[in-house]
Amino acid sequence: MSLPSSYTRWVSDFFSYETTKSVVVKSWVVGVVNRGVQLLILAYFVGWVFLHEKAYQVRDTAIESSVVTKVKGVGRYAGQVMDTADYVTPPQGTSVFVVVTKQIRTEDQAQGVCPEVRGGRGRVPGMLTGRCVPYNATLRTCEIQGWCPPERHPLSSSPVMLEAENFTLLIKNSIRFPLFGFEKTNLPAPGSGVELGRCRFHPQLQPLCPILRLGDVARLAGQDFPALGGVLGIKIGWVCDLDRAWELCLPRYSFTRLDSLARTPAPGYNFRHARYYRWPDGSERRTLIKAFGIRFDVLVYGSAGKFGIVPTLINTGDSGLAPRGSGGGTVLCDIILLNFLKGAEHYKARKFEEVRHGAGVTSLSLPPHAGGCTPPQ
Ligand SMILES: *[C@@H]1O[C@H](CO)[C@@H](O)[C@H](O)[C@H]1NC(C)=O
Repeated sequence: MSLPSSYTRWVSDFFSYETTKSVVVKSWVVGVVNRGVQLLILAYFVGWVFLHEKAYQVRDTAIESSVVTKVKGVGRYAGQVMDTADYVTPPQGTSVFVVVTKQIRTEDQAQGVCPEVRGGRGRVPGMLTGRCVPYNATLRTCEIQGWCPPERHPLSSSPVMLEAENFTLLIKNSIRFPLFGFEKTNLPAPGSGVELGRCRFHPQLQPLCPILRLGDVARLAGQDFPALGGVLGIKIGWVCDLDRAWELCLPRYSFTRLDSLARTPAPGYNFRHARYYRWPDGSERRTLIKAFGIRFDVLVYGSAGKFGIVPTLINTGDSGLAPRGSGGGTVLCDIILLNFLKGAEHYKARKFEEVRHGAGVTSLSLPPHAGGCTPPQ
């Protein structure tokens, strides 16, 4: 055997094409089952995967967002009229802010030493000096060094600023889906029928109005406003199909209480802050404020989808719409083999062997891998 001839044979063996031989069974029973199963799979992929889950779309879940808030309204508290600067903190209009509805104020504190207040819940607001000093006519307590006089808790719980229920909150939210360069805000476009400044959010009647009454926010979160001290979440959802019109990408507001009420040892929400000033004699003084109120967290979430050729092809391939077990190469080669080559009829007849149900089956030797119900596609 000479080298060139074995070489040519190897080359001609290498450049050959194998394809599976199919047996076409003309049987009603198997045929109906086969087409029925195919129809179910097709319906599942077209109906659920493609139309419902929109598997043909590229999705962007990395929403970029900015939130600016503004609270308006005046209330009455402890003989004073309170405006936004008094009860909203921080004042910058961030997505997380507190509306203070109740304050315990300790005026004119200065650095010094003084007797500790009895009945405080284990919190010593200064450093113990180690001395015992008279607290009142009958009682002696530990002496502390720090801001004096220390904070006292009023025996009766002071009232809350009830007008807060009627305050309004304007939310300005701009979002961007960076993958598609899509930008939008929650402020209604002029001429959209929502008049900014006049409208009030209502879940059914005004679902797009960005001005919310605080009492409504609490009610929609299932909470009772006056008794409330806690954290309320205002969620803005942007779930958009960008194959549809720009106007149809709209925010959806929902409300929830974020701090769980379930038997927390210290229910409610409070924090301390102080205002500093100097007396005419030059000594530094402060007003300590223990503030109780409602914290609002504006949370933005969203995702957008848009038609993309890559997910469409991948999901079509997965879906069983393409012949099973066939890569692109096989499909292409079979098309050439069965349609365009000389003697295509001959190949076709060899590839698809027809068997009529109950006739001549014994005379056939089926190839071992020709199982399954798959007819030619
Ligand atoms: C809130 O506003 C309504 C209507 O203007 C008024 O009847 C109600 O008394 C107000 N609530 C409070 C707590 O001021």
